[in-house]
Amino acid sequence: MIVLPEGTCFIFVMTASRTHHVSIFGLGYVGAVTAGCLAELGHHITGADVQQAKVDAFTVGVSPIIEPGLESLLQGAKRAGRLEATTDGAEAVQRTQVSIICVGTPSQAAGRLNLDFVRKVCAQIAAAIREKDQPHTILFRSTMLPGSTRGVVGEFFADLVAAGRVHVYYCPEFLREGTAVRDFRDPSLCVVGTHDGNAPATTEALDLLGAEAQILAWEGAEMVKYACNYFHALKVGFANEIGRMAKHLGVDGARVMDVVCRDERLNISRYYLRPGNPFGGSCLPKDVNALSGLARIEGVNLPLLDHVMDSNHAHLESLLNLITAKDVRRVGLLGLAFKADTDDMRGSALVTVAETLLGRGYEVRIYDPSINLTRLIGANEAEIQRRMPHLAQLLSESAEEVVRGSEVIVASQRCMEVESLREVATAGKQVIDVNGWPELKTLPWHYEGVCW
Ligand SMILES: NC(=O)c1ccc[n+]([C@@H]2O[C@H](COP(=O)([O-])OP(=O)(O)OC[C@H]3O[C@@H](n4cnc5c(N)ncnc54)[C@H](O)[C@@H]3O)[C@@H](O)[C@H]2O)c1
Repeated sequence: MIVLPEGTCFIFVMTASRTHHVSIFGLGYVGAVTAGCLAELGHHITGADVQQAKVDAFTVGVSPIIEPGLESLLQGAKRAGRLEATTDGAEAVQRTQVSIICVGTPSQAAGRLNLDFVRKVCAQIAAAIREKDQPHTILFRSTMLPGSTRGVVGEFFADLVAAGRVHVYYCPEFLREGTAVRDFRDPSLCVVGTHDGNAPATTEALDLLGAEAQILAWEGAEMVKYACNYFHALKVGFANEIGRMAKHLGVDGARVMDVVCRDERLNISRYYLRPGNPFGGSCLPKDVNALSGLARIEGVNLPLLDHVMDSNHAHLESLLNLITAKDVRRVGLLGLAFKADTDDMRGSALVTVAETLLGRGYEVRIYDPSINLTRLIGANEAEIQRRMPHLAQLLSESAEEVVRGSEVIVASQRCMEVESLREVATAGKQVIDVNGWPELKTLPWHYEGVCW
């Protein structure tokens, strides 16, 4: 088995050079499109569904759903003899070496995910595999909460997996109805989840759904799907709320969002999309508060925008809980300003961390190479005088001094070379990485990330 270094991706170009016999469970939007597109690539497809009408349509190459381009693919597959369908799941498994599970995963009342269809299909597939001599591969395509794949594998396939008779991958689907055929042929993202996050032991997931696959553990792959859908939902909500507020103020909200999207460096980019420090500084908290405050006064209901500050407070609170959950009293902060390479401490989350810890009787040491108290002026100086009048006594000359004198180190900025800490970052110490600084893991102390 190949072990992938963290953050690498596997590049496999989609090719029909290796054709597979594939059963597809669930002939709805995802299953029918997957069937048509895989058949186009030369694979042999057996569709399986509990609805006789869908199976009947499929059997004669008629699309069970309205989706541009799909019916001609199914017709072509039918003519080529690469398409059949059945209501008998066991038969579908017997005819194929790979099963792709595309059944619905609806929400129950209160949002709980209903895995009944997935579990029914798993029970059928597991029973049918026990009657087979050949190994079988299962690709879960249905959207399922993190932990679901491991749960159903444990429930239905544990012994088969242990015996090497079944391989299971979680491959989330990202297609959009209406452009699903195009999205399948040119996917925006390809993710393959394996039981341990290492490269798949067999090639079917990459042969069939490949292109450029990011490999994660099952739970990571499941979480990526939710992160994507949440992000889409969040963007729609954001654009609508900015649009509503703009209109209320007599501004063209569509034009505003169009201009916002023209900034591909800070807005439509990876920037600000790394979990880590709570936001701070002299602008974001002030401006978020100002627009939300105006909306409240004007009676414009903007629930998403209104909770952005709450979200930031919750993140800060969870960082504080992470620190105080450790049974220690001496805490060192690497970085105090709201970000690296500035001495601006206005609205800095780490100032709040220091203030709170001091208030609770902790011993706090701080290293921030950008802060020179003799050079602080104006609002920055006034805020630090108000919040931490004794800051001078807490500031250290070097990161080594802070690490030496602390039991827990909170690293929020890359403010020195990690190598310089090798002597002082001893095994008894703990470091909390707030900002994604992987080199910190190379030292012998106990490492923990704030979101990883
Ligand atoms: N629709 C989308 O755009 C989309 C995109 C990405 C992911 N997804 C996810 O993919 C999954 C499927 O979505 P969909 O929109 O295709 O659902 P759908 O409701 O259109 O189709 C599901 C199909 O599964 C069949 N089914 C139910 N139980 C079965 C069983 N025991 N055996 C065989 N077939 C069975 C149903 O009869 C139905 O035809 C869901 O988890 C969904 O969240 C959907």
